[in-house]
Amino acid sequence: MNSKQRCQALVSRNILTQEEAHFLNNSGALSLNQAEKFIENCIGGFTLPLGIATNFLIDGQEIFIPMAVEESSVVAAASFGAKLARTCGGFFSEPTENIATCQIQFIVDASINIHAIFHEYLKEQIFTYAHQSQPRLAQRGGGVKSVELRSLAKPGYHVIHINVDTCEAMGANIVNSIAEEVGRKLPELLPCAVGSKILTNLTIHRVTKVKCEIEFSALERDGYSGEEAAKRICSVWEFADLDPFRAATHNKGIMNGIDPVVIATGNDWRAVEAGCHAFASLSGTYKPLTKWFINNNNRLQGEIALPIAVGTVGGVTKIHPSATACLKLMGSPSASRLSALIASVGLAQNLSAIRALGCEGIQKGHMALHEKNLEMMRQYDHLPSISVVEDQIDKQ
Ligand code: MEV
Repeated sequence: MNSKQRCQALVSRNILTQEEAHFLNNSGALSLNQAEKFIENCIGGFTLPLGIATNFLIDGQEIFIPMAVEESSVVAAASFGAKLARTCGGFFSEPTENIATCQIQFIVDASINIHAIFHEYLKEQIFTYAHQSQPRLAQRGGGVKSVELRSLAKPGYHVIHINVDTCEAMGANIVNSIAEEVGRKLPELLPCAVGSKILTNLTIHRVTKVKCEIEFSALERDGYSGEEAAKRICSVWEFADLDPFRAATHNKGIMNGIDPVVIATGNDWRAVEAGCHAFASLSGTYKPLTKWFINNNNRLQGEIALPIAVGTVGGVTKIHPSATACLKLMGSPSASRLSALIASVGLAQNLSAIRALGCEGIQKGHMALHEKNLEMMRQYDHLPSISVVEDQIDKQ
């Protein structure tokens, strides 16, 4: 199929309307008028190719995965990883709550027993202030869930964490408002100097977990038996587990799957990136975000656990027409379901990469798909560069 036919196929399956398909097929570009409402000093737009990764069976549901990405072979690799996972029923997720966390940093005299005060009255009072700051959130089924106190490595330096169920929103604005309101009132509750009041992107109460299994027979390739390939995949994973330099690239491959879906659905990919890498370092050493091993059923098993703070309302999810269409294309998931779909793509992407690394190497498949880019570069080589054009204009 060409891109028009692919869009038509989505229309004929009632996944997209003709209008949505037409919009995406025409680059999904924002009008200048729309773009100017998004950012300051706007001069235009910048589009990325949007593709669909296929073969995704997630918790028994067939899902088309929209991916906005410039790197060739990413969409193909995600689809291939998902195909391997189908040999054992696809991906299975654990439900997560949409808990966003904000931090209020404060300093007290080092002689104060802050933990005693916290349990005596501070915790309850902060909970009340936080709740009062967003009363409508509880009506929508969310609200403040818990308040924690952490002490930092410097005497007198402490942080309050407020964990909030932000329903379908990613929640940055909600928890930032709570943090500022509580931060304003904190000096009324105890003598302290309040510092920064903002969310943390390390959303450890929002960790999404997904797993999959693969039959050995599906892994046979290029002179490797399925079992040999599975062992080589585990060994590539082990290398990442032992070496932060390799773990960085291993996780980059995972983000190859995650970022394009986060972008396509209008979510904040910088927040997801920051959260995932901080989570990967939580033990004190940078670690891979997935785990691969041969399980008791004699199958390759993969697991991913990472914080994916995304929403289906708020931000640009509802105002960027491409994001709206992409969410619809995925079956209009809830925010927590969207996290599970995104984590599945990360696991599939990682499987494809480490399978290739463990067997034939990455370049064979990658370069075949990269050929179209090279062809385009060769064509551009015959065109004058922008600086030459600018020189000519200057001379005129
Ligand atoms: C390239 O964009 C991603 C890989 O380097 C990931 C990996 O090495 O696991 C292939």
